Amino acid sequence: MTPRDILVTNALPYANGPIHLGHLLGYIQADIWVRFLRMQGHTVHYVCADDAHGTGIMLSAEKAGITPEQLIEGVRVEHHRDFKDFLVDFDIYYSTHSEENRELSAYVYQRLQQADAIATRSITQLFDPERELFLSDRFIKGQCPKCKAENQYGDNCEVCASTYAATDLINPRSTISGATPVPKDSVHYFFKLPQFTAMLKDWTRSGTLAPSVANKLAEWLDGGLQEWDISRDAPYFGFEIPDAPGKYFYVWLDAPIGYMASFKKLCSEKGLDFGAYWNEGTTTELWHFIGKDIINFHALFWPAMLTTAGFRKPTSISVNGFLTVNGQKMSKSRGTFIMAATYKEHLNPEYLRYYFASKLGSNPDDLDLNLEDFTLRVNADLVGKLVNIASRCAGFINRSFANKLSPLVAEADLISNFQQHANEIAEHYNNREYGKAMRLIMKLADDANAWIAEKQPWVLAKAQPQSEAVQNICSTGLNLFRLLVIYLKPVLPALAAQVETFLQVAPLRWQDSTTVLRDHTIGVFTPLMTRVDPDKIAAIMEASKSSLGASEEVAVIDSPLVREPIAAEIEFPDFAKVDMRVVKIQHAEHVAGADKLLKLTLDLGLGTDGKPVLRTVFSGIKSAYEPEQLIGQLAVMVANLKARKMKFGMSEGMILAAGDGKEIFLMAPHAGAHPGTRVT
Ligand code: 2FM
Ligand code: ZN
Repeated sequence: MTPRDILVTNALPYANGPIHLGHLLGYIQADIWVRFLRMQGHTVHYVCADDAHGTGIMLSAEKAGITPEQLIEGVRVEHHRDFKDFLVDFDIYYSTHSEENRELSAYVYQRLQQADAIATRSITQLFDPERELFLSDRFIKGQCPKCKAENQYGDNCEVCASTYAATDLINPRSTISGATPVPKDSVHYFFKLPQFTAMLKDWTRSGTLAPSVANKLAEWLDGGLQEWDISRDAPYFGFEIPDAPGKYFYVWLDAPIGYMASFKKLCSEKGLDFGAYWNEGTTTELWHFIGKDIINFHALFWPAMLTTAGFRKPTSISVNGFLTVNGQKMSKSRGTFIMAATYKEHLNPEYLRYYFASKLGSNPDDLDLNLEDFTLRVNADLVGKLVNIASRCAGFINRSFANKLSPLVAEADLISNFQQHANEIAEHYNNREYGKAMRLIMKLADDANAWIAEKQPWVLAKAQPQSEAVQNICSTGLNLFRLLVIYLKPVLPALAAQVETFLQVAPLRWQDSTTVLRDHTIGVFTPLMTRVDPDKIAAIMEASKSSLGASEEVAVIDSPLVREPIAAEIEFPDFAKVDMRVVKIQHAEHVAGADKLLKLTLDLGLGTDGKPVLRTVFSGIKSAYEPEQLIGQLAVMVANLKARKMKFGMSEGMILAAGDGKEIFLMAPHAGAHPGTRVT
């Protein structure tokens, strides 16, 4: 096998909202591919970043009273955490708002200018006279000029599906200020895309894209390409265009350059050669994994930009379809607009990885997450078939053979049959036909289970627990299991890690499928995976309803991720001065005349003199809790806060709660904590 050197990217998610299951589809698809290639011994660098620029982010930050930089850093950290939780293992998760990206964007732009690929001209756009900014179509609403439906966006009508210019809307208004927009002229910068038509026609048909994607692009290419507007006027959160004060690169200009910038950062961290992956003529591969809604940016604008700037073009672009849940578009009112973090709270991310893999192919088809089918499939395949093999065999080896596998296997042919499928499965992974790979692997799992059922080691063990036959059968079963785990490792890396510990083997590589474990000491088997509990699915849907409200719209400026900025750093001794204690709320009551306060009596356990310590605290949590709900609950208080005289009496400390002005959540230790214990 010729070693490959590959740079893989995933589309950069916008830094203005949380990661949801729809996002995860494309990331899990790419991560599986990366893990598979690495298992085969290829060199793969896998990069991503948050897409941090644009008007939406600028407005979100403004609304939250923080800088865009603070906003995007908070979101970046949350996005990276979500990806890690789903075992999407980037080498770097950076931001498009980086110095590397500023420099590379300026460089690419200057090369485009030198190649005479930039034009400038004045255009007329709608302008918000109150906020003094130009309005893109999504910030303008009005009445549809065709069907007269109210509240339609500036580019198309969701009721009659007609498309139009924002200037055609009846009674248009700015969704930012409510003002009536006025037409205004300004100079814009354009990338002269039409001059690349011939190159793009060749490139899109050169095997870089799935045929259905190339066909879609052919429609645009044959219809004639337009020049692409790459500038936006101030105020805008992004990079100012060199030598064009007040003009900024449109977010989509510097977003794909963000792939290069992330990799550049990785190169400086790891001492890698940037040019080896980006220079024209390189033999390394560049793969982009994207969703089908952003094909034009990646397969038209991007190769044209790269080539003009003297860089290589992508080797391939892998396109995924959209995710539907229970056969429909994800919906907040139905509880199917599920955030990654909500899912993670209730279910194992590997279930989702497996379910996606079982339905993914290389074509950009939409994928339906049917929650009932998901439950059945995970339970049947992963628990009922895969894990079952190990749990049927491991106990005998652990109990009766001192954890030792036999020197001989009972059915060498079956093992070698499993081994012979390695290439076919690898081929499916390589072609991103994961569904085909999963079907084949599960067929093998069926074969293994059928064989064990036929051999009935449990019957033999009853008569003669330590018979060689039992050891041979169970050793064979565990070897079959090991092979299946090798084949599934790109999809189920956490399960594979557990199995490596159980089997006491080094991290499994693809090549390990050619070997068999004989005379080998394993560890003690512990349950590897539990069944999907339908109650958990119900809980996810319930949480998805309540956490997002009934609105179907993805709020751009009401992002739940918008947080207060982190306060100035403090030294540890400062933190240590705060004495926080577990308390039990002994009593809670309303305070006559107070809108926000509840009066709490807090039990701090016994003092050093052996007497109970009680404190009275007034707490502003009335909007979130009824007094009766609180009595008997555990909470955390700052116990050494100087008593303060309040309108309704002395408050002797403070209890901790999280709140953003709208919602309040009391901080509580897990059940069982003792009142008076210090919180550190
Ligand atoms: O559509 C999106 O979510 C974009 N933020 C994707 C950008 S991909 C790349 F070009 F950066
Ligand atoms: Zn209409």
